[in-house]
Amino acid sequence: MATTLAPTAPDAAVVAVPATQPAPVRLMALGLWGVVGSLLSYGIVMTVTPPPAPGGSPTPPPAAAVRAPSECRRGAPSLPPTVSTTSRLFEPLTLRGTTFRNRVWLAPMCQYSATDGVPDDWHLVHLGTRAVGGFGLVLAEATAVVPEGRITPQDTGLWNDAQTDAWARIVRFVQERGARAGVQLAHAGRKASTYSPFDAQGRRGTVPADDGGWGTVGPSASAFPGYDAPRALTAEEIAEVPAAFAAAAERALRAGFDVVEVHAAHGYLLHQFLSPLSNERTDEYGGPLENRARLLTEVVEAVRAVWPEDRPLFVRVSATDWVEGGLDVADVAQVATVLRELGVDLVDVSTGGNAPAEIPVGPGYQVPHARLVREVAKVPVAAVGLLTSAEQAEGLVVDGAADAVMLGREALRDPMWPLRAAHRLGVPASTAPDAPARWQPQLDRATWR
Ligand SMILES: Cc1cc2nc3c(=O)[nH]c(=O)nc-3n(C[C@H](O)[C@H](O)[C@H](O)COP(=O)(O)O)c2cc1C
Repeated sequence: MATTLAPTAPDAAVVAVPATQPAPVRLMALGLWGVVGSLLSYGIVMTVTPPPAPGGSPTPPPAAAVRAPSECRRGAPSLPPTVSTTSRLFEPLTLRGTTFRNRVWLAPMCQYSATDGVPDDWHLVHLGTRAVGGFGLVLAEATAVVPEGRITPQDTGLWNDAQTDAWARIVRFVQERGARAGVQLAHAGRKASTYSPFDAQGRRGTVPADDGGWGTVGPSASAFPGYDAPRALTAEEIAEVPAAFAAAAERALRAGFDVVEVHAAHGYLLHQFLSPLSNERTDEYGGPLENRARLLTEVVEAVRAVWPEDRPLFVRVSATDWVEGGLDVADVAQVATVLRELGVDLVDVSTGGNAPAEIPVGPGYQVPHARLVREVAKVPVAAVGLLTSAEQAEGLVVDGAADAVMLGREALRDPMWPLRAAHRLGVPASTAPDAPARWQPQLDRATWR
């Protein structure tokens, strides 16, 4: 079953249409939140499979073309041990000095509800409710590191003190509910300045300057189909990007976040540099994969340098462009290997978003990519994309495809998903010794006995 991603919609609302739709389905996916994957569903596989030995990948990438400077290789994590328990999904996960109470995490989702980049009560309730519902990590939406990096004018930001203070209130609430709080740091590049999906007049594409938009930038002057063409960044401007991400990470630290995720997926600036479909540069940031990955590795180095040793750093990648000649999972697995050497603790594996593509969509559609990145790069990964049932999520974690799962739309539908999933998997609820950390006492009568 194939799905066609429409290039005309902005980056907002998502995404994939389940395989039950007549094909081809034209998705009105703004920016196309990583849709896609194979129809492979991981169901319940209760056999514990440790990651294979090096070389065990079904499609091993070529010898590393991307290398980390040796002075930057620090804090490389090892894969967590695989042990059998009642529920692997509800087993805590520790990365560096940070323990997550379970492996069910909220995927980052733009709310298009901020004013001047400042999150408000909506964000408090959206994120806070999922913390109450039992998610182990509550990962806040793509949050721009500079104003012109916003996908829409209504995106959140972390470039000033007002935004930092507003985030601090939300982080406090999330952590008081026993969840870890994370934020996704982003620059939308050529896919910035687009209309929110909530635009009252139904407008799509690039917001013009006289309507609150701004000129966009990218690795090259080529446009994402349906959007205005960006201006190619100069070498001096490229040099400012890692510093902008690092400054935002410092603000994230002041706000109290436990986790920072660098957004290098879904056709935004760092993905635009990584992919040969959008990067036509002839300097040291264009050409071979090693050059195209340079900006991402510089960003990661800059963020890792300011982000505390005991706090995890994640990177979200698009493991494939789903286009012949575009980025593929072998490329991305190589890049992930370098990211691990640079101190990245978990790679959050999505796909797509940089070009219109025919994408096969189905349950767990991106799980095979997560598994491959985990096996090749020897780095913990999160899987995301049409993960909706407790058994499916449990199965893929037990099976060693991923170390954690992220839920997007299913979490929008059901903020209490972890509570329901725990019940289905037979995880003790309020009677468990660690119950206060897992469930709020106010939910006690909502647990099954
Ligand atoms: C409303 C909405 C907003 C999203 N915003 C983001 C975002 O800010 N950053 C990101 O990396 N992905 C974003 N996504 C993609 C999700 O994180 C997730 O990868 C995708 O929805 C697939 O997972 P799902 O099938 O569980 O929804 C968004 C998805 C939705 C539905």
